[in-house]
Amino acid sequence: MNPLRDPQDRRLPRVPDPCALVIFGVTGDLARKKLLPAVYDLANRGLLPPGFVVLGFARRDWAHGEFEELTRKAAMEHARTPWREEVWARLSGNIRFVGGSFDDDNAFDQLAATLDELRDTHGIPGNAAFYLSIPPSAFPVVLKQLERTGMASNAKAGGWRRVVVEKPFGTDLASAKALNDLVDDVVSAEDVFRIDHYLGKETVQNILALRFANALWEPLWNTKYVDSVQITMAEDVGIGSRAGFYETTGAARDVLQNHLLQLLALIAMEEPTTFDSVQIRAEKLKVLRAIRVPADIMRDTVRGQYVTGWVAGARVPGYREEEDVSPESTTESYVAVRLGIQNRRWAEVPFFIRAGKRLPRRVTEVAVLFKKAPHLPFHADDVELLGHNQLVIRVQPDEGVTLKFGSKVPGTAMELRDITMDFAYGEAFTEASPEAYERLILDVLIGDRTLFPDAAEVEEGWRVVDPLEEAWAGTTPSFYRAGEWGPREADEMLARTGHQWRRA
Ligand code: BG6
Repeated sequence: MNPLRDPQDRRLPRVPDPCALVIFGVTGDLARKKLLPAVYDLANRGLLPPGFVVLGFARRDWAHGEFEELTRKAAMEHARTPWREEVWARLSGNIRFVGGSFDDDNAFDQLAATLDELRDTHGIPGNAAFYLSIPPSAFPVVLKQLERTGMASNAKAGGWRRVVVEKPFGTDLASAKALNDLVDDVVSAEDVFRIDHYLGKETVQNILALRFANALWEPLWNTKYVDSVQITMAEDVGIGSRAGFYETTGAARDVLQNHLLQLLALIAMEEPTTFDSVQIRAEKLKVLRAIRVPADIMRDTVRGQYVTGWVAGARVPGYREEEDVSPESTTESYVAVRLGIQNRRWAEVPFFIRAGKRLPRRVTEVAVLFKKAPHLPFHADDVELLGHNQLVIRVQPDEGVTLKFGSKVPGTAMELRDITMDFAYGEAFTEASPEAYERLILDVLIGDRTLFPDAAEVEEGWRVVDPLEEAWAGTTPSFYRAGEWGPREADEMLARTGHQWRRA
């Protein structure tokens, strides 16, 4: 270690100890589009340790060169950082592959032996992270294999061993608890990293900076001044070829249970006593526990499904016409819900959340709408165009923050109109934002758990979603045309309390 480097100094680039990253399901979409490119980007930024190996595992009868080729292609097509032959030359020397199915004991024994060899060949003293980029149904068998071979044991390895699990973490509270128990049997809680890739997004982490590094918002951040909060996650894409997964999942399980409730938690949580993973997760958990599910679920939630329509100038099929979707499917591709938070800060403030596929454009944002001024000393005609003051956190794709407030229209009359003040990442910073997976993989290798929800947070997510699923069982979703902002019922839901969705 560099004696001049203070390990507590978080401003220095953090570099993990020599280690291996083992990816199960390495031929899948996630590995090709996100994980392998992120590894290349980390290498390119000089953030990987000198002793590093990425080890792929999949049911393929591959010689080593084929996995190397898959990694090269994945990095070339999807990496954020420019292609540099010298970076690739270094990384490609540190790629290994073990082929086999998840129930193949020999393959796992070979994996264990390969990890052991890295001690001599790469100076990696037993450290390894196992990334389960596989369907949840395969978690138990892989976890059992890690246990059987002793690969998940820190003591046996003589270094750290960590397990990374992708969402969906269960399909309801009961299955999530069973899965948590299973993981607990194999690795200790501090060695489990549950991925919610929204937390790896720069703009999502900035919610904490915006709230807790500034004095400006805190006095207003409560039921006295906040009228409502709107969280929108709109996607223009459909379900593509993911019907197998999506048909049994739907929008609520896919993104509300995790990404959107995490956004809500960051917006609504109290200030952590210190900025570390234990305190941040404790505050998030408190607010997740305070979420109130609507008393009348059918009134305060909307499920939608797209029918054929137009998106970005192209005609697109309806949900039921997508590949491998049943023509009578009642799976929702859109969800909107009104949640409350039962605590002093947020009593009576509605949190309107919506997410959908095949909406007009891709945008994720959180908008805090403030109450209107209690009195306006202007002529009624002059303030007709004034709406709520709003603070909008633009998560993606146009990353930044917008503040919306009323202003005098230039001219001789005192006419007022809403205008916006914008902070755009691209203009304010020369530094580029890392891809979410880059940040999260790095944190796993470093052992920083701040951005990973713990078991209790995941279970709270299901506590919110389970009653919705129960109430919806056997019902047909409302239809919306692809390329429109969801079903009419979602507008009506807000209109009933005098609200309307922001034009995101
Ligand atoms: C995933 C969901 O978690 O997030 C997908 O399973 C969704 O259905 C994706 O498309 C969206 O991620 P992002 O980062 O593009 O907003």
